[in-house]
Amino acid sequence: MTTLSIAQLLEDASIRLHHPQNNGRMEAQLLLGYCLQKNSSYLLTWPERLIEQETVQIFEAMVSRREQGEPIAYILGEKEFWSLSFKVTPDTLIPRPETELLVELALEKAKERAVIADLGTGSGAIAVAVASEKPDSQVYATDFSQAALDIAKLNANSNNISNIQFFQGDWGKPVAKISFDLILSNPPYIEENDPHLQQGDLRFEPSSALWAQQQGYADIYQIIEFSAGSLNPDGWVLIEHGYQQSQKIREKLESLNYQSITTWKDLAGLDRVTGGRKSMS
Ligand SMILES: C[S@@+](CC[C@H](N)C(=O)[O-])C[C@H]1O[C@@H](n2cnc3c(N)ncnc32)[C@H](O)[C@@H]1O
Repeated sequence: MTTLSIAQLLEDASIRLHHPQNNGRMEAQLLLGYCLQKNSSYLLTWPERLIEQETVQIFEAMVSRREQGEPIAYILGEKEFWSLSFKVTPDTLIPRPETELLVELALEKAKERAVIADLGTGSGAIAVAVASEKPDSQVYATDFSQAALDIAKLNANSNNISNIQFFQGDWGKPVAKISFDLILSNPPYIEENDPHLQQGDLRFEPSSALWAQQQGYADIYQIIEFSAGSLNPDGWVLIEHGYQQSQKIREKLESLNYQSITTWKDLAGLDRVTGGRKSMS
């Protein structure tokens, strides 16, 4: 039986994972580090160390999955968001770094003891991040997918969050009797025939988390309409969206008499979140 060293395993996997859009070496380190439960400094410090056959097999299986294009987060079963660790499965969207903008804005807008909704919570990323920063708030998180909600509940528990309640159902319907100070959502917003759905990580993520009817606007419009009837005066709705969608979203907010309508850009300088405030009267 041949045993292989850390350096040999990393070298071979880096070549197999080499791709113009990925850093093959970094991915190989992530996967091997996960198998050995060690960080990258350990891998660099002990290149000659021999790895037992059983671990090599687990590592090789992970590298093969990555070669087929499966997202690293699904292979590892976890993703960091807002410096918190989230379990992710193919039932949940993988939380994106750009969604941290929505969390930042939510924290800016949230008053003391705010009542907050996260509609379409997926892994619970937004709800858990906001609840962790605002422990005096009460957060209500909904999702159509019970499988996603089960993961979101695990993530709330593993991050020691107790101020979120979870509800299965269509956008705001399960929490229709509650009045909110803040309604947050990162809904599906990609157009049904967008070729990006057949590329990269998106191929592996749940389609119900990605695309929406009416050229990607159907769910956004539904959330804006729901919020008009469920926000307290002076409350805000904040919605993450595609970089070319802000104008139509602002028009929709205007048509429902929202005030202070604003679009915020992400770190790449792209329109990413649009929101409006319900008028006081
Ligand atoms: C783009 S993902 C966002 C997930 C998570 N909030 C995040 O930012 O990582 C959209 C989420 O909306 C959920 N969803 C889709 N249609 C829905 C509906 N009609 N009612 C409630 N949730 C829905 C999907 O299951 C998915 O979890």
